[in-house]
Amino acid sequence: MPAPRADLHDVQALVRSGFGSLGAARYLLLRIGDAAAAKAWLARQVPTPAGAVGGGGTTLDRVLQIAFTPAGLIAAGFEAAELETLAPEFLDGMAGSERRSHRLGDVGENAPDRWHWGVGANEPHMLLVLIARRDAFGGWASAIEQDALASGFTRVAALDSCPGDEDGRPSREPFGFADGLSQPDLDWEARLALTGAVNRDYRPGIALGEVLLGHTNEYGAVAGDPGGPLVQRNGSYLVYRQLEQDVAGFWRWTAEAAGPGQARWLAERLVGRGIDGDALPGLAGEGAGANDFLFKDDPHGLACPLGAHVRRANPRVGDDPLGRRGFVRDLIATLGFAGPAQEDAVASARFHRLLRRGRPYGTLLSPEAALGLDGPAPEAGLHFLCLNANLARQFEFVQGAWLASPTFAGLCQESDPLLGNRLPFPDARRTDLFRYHDAEGLPRIARALPRFVTVRGGAYFFLPGLAGLASIAAR
Ligand code: HEM
Repeated sequence: MPAPRADLHDVQALVRSGFGSLGAARYLLLRIGDAAAAKAWLARQVPTPAGAVGGGGTTLDRVLQIAFTPAGLIAAGFEAAELETLAPEFLDGMAGSERRSHRLGDVGENAPDRWHWGVGANEPHMLLVLIARRDAFGGWASAIEQDALASGFTRVAALDSCPGDEDGRPSREPFGFADGLSQPDLDWEARLALTGAVNRDYRPGIALGEVLLGHTNEYGAVAGDPGGPLVQRNGSYLVYRQLEQDVAGFWRWTAEAAGPGQARWLAERLVGRGIDGDALPGLAGEGAGANDFLFKDDPHGLACPLGAHVRRANPRVGDDPLGRRGFVRDLIATLGFAGPAQEDAVASARFHRLLRRGRPYGTLLSPEAALGLDGPAPEAGLHFLCLNANLARQFEFVQGAWLASPTFAGLCQESDPLLGNRLPFPDARRTDLFRYHDAEGLPRIARALPRFVTVRGGAYFFLPGLAGLASIAAR
């Protein structure tokens, strides 16, 4: 097997694995109070490197990862001008401007001024991700936290995931669906030839530079800007959003909208996958977690609604929206004389992939238990984390143009069925519809979807390589 092109001992392990077989995780959000003490502490830390991740999973039982916000880098001693080679979206911050909040859907109940953490006095400087086997977690995680709090840091929040299975089964998000199934396949060995017609088709593999700075991306360019005293190579941008889920509301609404016995059927259309992770019937792909399906044979959304969550989040389209059909017909399509507009409207997926690393939190209920609740449901949600090398083109594009936008793939007046904030757009267009085809293939429009997900906090972090971390500790 060819050797990976990146130095795996310089890359933090989260880039290589989500550690699904380790069942406990804590996200520790800290601020730097005493910079000298904090940097002395940082200089003693060795985040788990990707090189420690064994093949086919991991033999590790504890993983420590470290990431910084721009405020954290400044608190560590960088001048703002020294950080200018980092991504402008990172420097602005997830809640950095009203326009950004609007694009990301962070308005109304999702607005940053309502967040539990992420802005003002609750803006973190640093994120420690602590993941371990359940029986190895408690004492270890507390010791790290105590040590950090005694070494110049103060705590903004310590957020735990709920205990996960350690038997290799996919985790479930709080609505009850198998999660973490479809991921881009990072091209560690640089096997992808980035030119040539075949690479214009949809493929699960993506260039390493789509996630890791300092490596070649899908445009054939090197990701990031190597200038400045902060070593960017082998670093990545980490997006963290705490997304609270109204599990009872989700199941009550689907049960009412779908009719007796049909709640699960409709919920699976909102998500775009079976509850146990199967591809929806009518798409190729077999078995739980199947990923070998495309949507191009389902152009009208009969099998999977056009606006289903997974179809918005990754429309699985290649560079040629109508497929490769030869020079003359491609030219006709390029000139806009062929095909309905919606086939043209979705951008090529390979430039917009995200490496998801999130975990659920709170109390997980089965759909039946959620439907049977009398009072309010216990709190639950997703610590949504993802890695990418270009925040604007990857996370912000997926969130803004594909999930939150009321116009996607020829649809209008609807946004992502799981994540939409349902607020009318500024021009008063509603965003709370959901179009699908019922089991008989008849088109239906569900109306007045409630908001099922509320943003409770968020920030952009830089996850440095190990040399990058040393350049921060040495500042
Ligand atoms: C509470 C919020 C969310 C829930 C409950 C949720 C749930 C799910 C589920 C059940 C799947 C299918 C299983 C899988 O392929 O892993 C999925 C896939 C996916 N989700 Fe989400 N998700 C949430 C938020 C987000 C956000 C904020 C983003 C991006 C900004 C996102 C992006 C994706 C992507 C890229 C996929 C894979 C699509 C594919 O390649 O087929 N999700 N999500």
